[in-house]
Amino acid sequence: MSDVSLPSPPEARTAAVIPAAGRGVRLGPGAPKALRALNGTPMLIHAVRAMAASRAVSLVVVVAPPDGAAEVKTLLDAHALPDRTDFVVVPGGDSRQESVKYGLDALPPGIDIVLVHDAARPLVPVDTVDAVIEAVRDGAPAVVPALPLADTVKEVEPAAVAGEVEPVVATPERARLRAVQTPQGFDRETLLRAHETVTDDVTDDASMVEQLGVRVVVVPGHEEAFKVTRPLDLVLAEAVLARRRLNDGF
Ligand code: C5P
Repeated sequence: MSDVSLPSPPEARTAAVIPAAGRGVRLGPGAPKALRALNGTPMLIHAVRAMAASRAVSLVVVVAPPDGAAEVKTLLDAHALPDRTDFVVVPGGDSRQESVKYGLDALPPGIDIVLVHDAARPLVPVDTVDAVIEAVRDGAPAVVPALPLADTVKEVEPAAVAGEVEPVVATPERARLRAVQTPQGFDRETLLRAHETVTDDVTDDASMVEQLGVRVVVVPGHEEAFKVTRPLDLVLAEAVLARRRLNDGF
């Protein structure tokens, strides 16, 4: 019997698309949200490092504000990033959905798994990123990290004028609800099909895949993967970074 070993099957290659083109108006006036600093480093750089921290991620596509691609490219060049990862910057669009689509358009052949990660979630731990990739590698076409809710949620009839009372329509059973985070992970072909087919306004990519009738599954999220949306979130993010520095012994 010959001793020639068969080549192992090629590893699925993973890219991360980071939509970072939002203005972040809920954070107050100032630079686009992704470019705001957390402990002196722009939020976007934290988010890029969080994706590149996974050894499975070979390419990160950053979707910059439409008029800010050159600035974002300069920013990436000015910060230390892992050598094993490639970085590409493309200009974004008017909606998150459009921005993600422009990011997908920039993917080269040979990428099989795509993560979509909000720049506004700069502190997601690498274990969460790897868990999402792993679930896609294991055969799930769409995977989202999510956490159970602390608050009870009410569905209301939204007031026409801000500040007016809003009638409650329903109270979904809290135990069946999950707060969804990113990175969301997809088999590339499934995500492309979703972006080509679904034109409704959506707030995440998984819901587009749901609309195709394709099964989406949830893996455990992480409390540090929260979205920096309001001013208090900046305080929390800096506290998390300070705690990490202490734990790392710096
Ligand atoms: O507005 P929201 O908080 O849902 O934004 C989530 C992510 O989508 C942010 O990282 C933001 O920069 C990005 N986004 C984008 N293009 C837009 C609007 C939002 O890339 N036009």
